[in-house]
Amino acid sequence: MTKVLIATDKPFAAVAVAGIRKVVEDAGFELVLLEKYTQQADFVNAVADVDAVIVRSDLATKEVIDAGKKLKIIVRAGAGFDNVDLPAATEKGVVVMNTPGQNSNAVAELALGMMVYIARNSYNGSSGTELRGKKLGIHAYGAVGRYVAEIAKGFGMEILAFDPFVSKEAMEKDGVKWVESIQDLYSSCQYVSVHIPANEKTKKSINFEVLSMMPKGATLVNTARKEVIDEEALMEIFEGRPDFKYVSDIEPGCKEEIITKYPGRFFFTPKKSGAQTSEANINAGIAAAKQIVGFLKNGDRTFQVNKF
Ligand code: 3PG
Repeated sequence: MTKVLIATDKPFAAVAVAGIRKVVEDAGFELVLLEKYTQQADFVNAVADVDAVIVRSDLATKEVIDAGKKLKIIVRAGAGFDNVDLPAATEKGVVVMNTPGQNSNAVAELALGMMVYIARNSYNGSSGTELRGKKLGIHAYGAVGRYVAEIAKGFGMEILAFDPFVSKEAMEKDGVKWVESIQDLYSSCQYVSVHIPANEKTKKSINFEVLSMMPKGATLVNTARKEVIDEEALMEIFEGRPDFKYVSDIEPGCKEEIITKYPGRFFFTPKKSGAQTSEANINAGIAAAKQIVGFLKNGDRTFQVNKF
């Protein structure tokens, strides 16, 4: 029988798993569940006799892909697929897909939530600041960036965005000011919300030059990936700019140093939790299951990210 494995170190909500099960079983396939696993070896073992895998940020390494003797497709239930070894999958003829947009609202809500939290001094009772009237820079105007813009408009923020792949007209239609460069964005916004993927071009691209341009009272909001931040530069900025704050859904490597040296100027979620809502789990999980059924039954390759 065709088997579909859900391998999630950080499990989906139970209601999402039930929805995925229905899609898989209605197609005549069997669902196998590996949740909260503690060792990568558990994933490697579980993949041995399955045809398809659904992951979140789980590491679909070459070892995992090689162990999947019948493996035909991996779907990352979410946006970023930097956790999947694409060359290894392509070499073995394994299709890799993501589910773009399905968890974006959840991530955007967290970005705004963290902004309010830090603007109100971590709710410590002292007098904070408001978001209304402040400039928010959106670094990459994709699915999450658009939701961030939509919600931030409700807060009365002025919204600017930089994205070389999105036209000025498209942004203006959304009431967002198009800017030409990263420099233009960081130098004019008190808040910058980062939504770029982690790849060879973007790693450490948010560097000292860019961060030091931010105006007084700046807050950097990261719900993307820690790799896109140059953490040495981040520490230099923290040290030299007592007004600078950083809120992130991904704990930085320099977390302990920040916690010790710069109290009140940061917030980190304990586990990457941007997409951790029932709604996002249902949307992304069920989309992943449907994409697997569509591919295995009809060869539908929509959302394939490793073209071959
Ligand atoms: C994504 O890329 O979709 C988000 O970072 C969410 O990741 P998660 O599914 O591991 O929470």
